[in-house]
Amino acid sequence: MESYPRLFIKAGLIYLVLGVILGVSMSFVPAWSIRFVHIHLNLLGFMTMMIAGVAYHVLPRFSARTVPWPGGVKYHFLFHNIGLIGMLITHPFGGMGGGLMGGLFSLFSLIAGIGLLIMFYNLYFVLSDAIPHTKKITGKMTVARVLGQFPQTLDIFLENGFSSLANPTARATLAKVVTVETACQKHGVNSVAFLEKLNLALQGENPKQEPTEKEEPERPAIVSGKEIHHGDLCTADTLVGSLIKTYPATKVVFEKHYGEGCFSCPGQSFEQVQETASMHNIDPKIILDDVNDVINKELKE
Ligand code: HEM
Ligand code: HEM
Repeated sequence: MESYPRLFIKAGLIYLVLGVILGVSMSFVPAWSIRFVHIHLNLLGFMTMMIAGVAYHVLPRFSARTVPWPGGVKYHFLFHNIGLIGMLITHPFGGMGGGLMGGLFSLFSLIAGIGLLIMFYNLYFVLSDAIPHTKKITGKMTVARVLGQFPQTLDIFLENGFSSLANPTARATLAKVVTVETACQKHGVNSVAFLEKLNLALQGENPKQEPTEKEEPERPAIVSGKEIHHGDLCTADTLVGSLIKTYPATKVVFEKHYGEGCFSCPGQSFEQVQETASMHNIDPKIILDDVNDVINKELKE
């Protein structure tokens, strides 16, 4: 799971613990009752953050596209937490009255509110076609984001001297922090011409790219995982979509363990085998063993 959804869920759970401790204290000593703090720890802290964390993880997979403002998730997290903590501190000390505390309370409320508006924007429009989703690669995007969203560009990177990207570890580490522009500078590649090549490839105008029957679905920026090629065995981080494409016979394993509904979900092609297993509360080893049995059988035939 990507870092911000995970952080939202962790933060939400911490607020739950604090909210419950306060609730229990309030029922023992009614004089300590700070209803506002209790309610907002539990509802604006725990519940809203849990919903945000799960939704940021699930909805891009449901709709098979990135949220319209991926960078905004970080701002949502910061604003939601800073606003909430500020509200919780200032409310009991006269936040609803005027004066300095009242002003501070309003300010923190505004900050939290902006955070929630960012959440609304990203989650509402990830489900909607009203906002055109980014189809253009810019120099400011990290290499990992470009590869995650437009996996077909990997060949172009490799052909233009970014050979280290052939290594999945480099794709999972270095590529996450280096922007396309910086990568070009480091490799002495003309970034304007290179970006043009990448963007032409998106429109299917790259002569080096093989024509495909169907356009690949756009992958969320947060996707990570390994493609599998014929002759390879499946590993925990293999992408299910790639696995099914290379070894269609392995589909039966997923149908057996997860049920047939799985394949109607567009997100399945962006998940790693281990992620799908943990989502269904099954030991990934069981799935891997079954999948590799099928692959071994197919390779021996
Ligand atoms: C063991 C856990 C909890 C305890 C002991 C507890 C205790 C309390 C107490 C004593 C009050 C009354 C405060 C007052 O009227 O002054 C209260 C109100 C409230 N609690 Fe909790 N609480 C717990 C967990 C939660 C959770 C998990 C949520 C939400 C997810 C929650 C939401 C609320 C709300 C919304 C109110 C206000 C209800 C109203 O306006 O009448 N509480 N709680
Ligand atoms: C930026 C977000 C939010 C702000 C600024 C905010 C602000 C407030 C304020 C100013 C009050 C009145 C407090 C008082 O009378 O002393 C209030 C009450 C309340 N809020 Fe929020 N709130 C926010 C989000 C939420 C959310 C997301 C929930 C539930 C999911 C929620 C549930 C409640 C409840 C149940 C009360 C009634 C408390 C009572 O009965 O004393 N709030 N909120």
